[in-house]
Amino acid sequence: MLGSGLGGVAERIAGAIRIPFAGVPGLPPATVAGHAGEFIAGNLAGRAVLAQRGRTHLYEGSAAMALPPRLFAALGIGVMVVTNAAGGIRPGFASGTLMLIADHLNLSFRNPLLGAVWSGEARFPDMSDPYDADLRNSARRIACERAIALEEGVYAGVLGPSYETPAEIRMLARLGADAVGMSTVAEVIAARAAGLRCLGLSVVTNRAAGLGAGITSHTEVVDAAGRAGATLGALLEAVVAEIA
Ligand code: HPA
Repeated sequence: MLGSGLGGVAERIAGAIRIPFAGVPGLPPATVAGHAGEFIAGNLAGRAVLAQRGRTHLYEGSAAMALPPRLFAALGIGVMVVTNAAGGIRPGFASGTLMLIADHLNLSFRNPLLGAVWSGEARFPDMSDPYDADLRNSARRIACERAIALEEGVYAGVLGPSYETPAEIRMLARLGADAVGMSTVAEVIAARAAGLRCLGLSVVTNRAAGLGAGITSHTEVVDAAGRAGATLGALLEAVVAEIA
């Protein structure tokens, strides 16, 4: 799942077959700049993959982001790799930092599993291992082998769409957040409920509000994510090659 400005990673997929969201019943089109809105089936590092370029966010007003993880599980896919752009909260998390997601805080106060229980899913899914420990171990090892700087931390998922205030960022820091963004959490909750193992990678695209100079803008986020795309793509490809 490729987040804001990170769609270029899909260029690495060989024999790509593109399926626009509009071609999948029930999926709304992607509406946010930097999000293309298509699935790409093909080969990455010799493995069959299905990439998702663009995503639905809670702030768009529906829980449609839960549909792709359920679709992946129904297709027999076992692992979901999620990427996103995030604001850096931990000191030193400057634009361009890659962060392996160790865990998340669901601060959207929404849950994609509200309502009727989806066929085959539990009413109360376990969330004690949201980001698979084995996948994180291999991501860490691969990054080390390739001299790719990879941090690890907690992702705070907020509802958005307005960016945070400086006071909110100070609060998030005290709550244990290392980075903040508006995606991923709902998708990972849905994916875990559907039985997928998850790996999450954030690209820090800006210092969070009040921590850097100036304002936060979506253009800055998409541009910075695009600059990190090549490194992230190399890491993703190597991780995919080793998924057991
Ligand atoms: N806040 C929330 N979401 C984000 C940010 C941020 O600073 N940067 C990229 N996505």
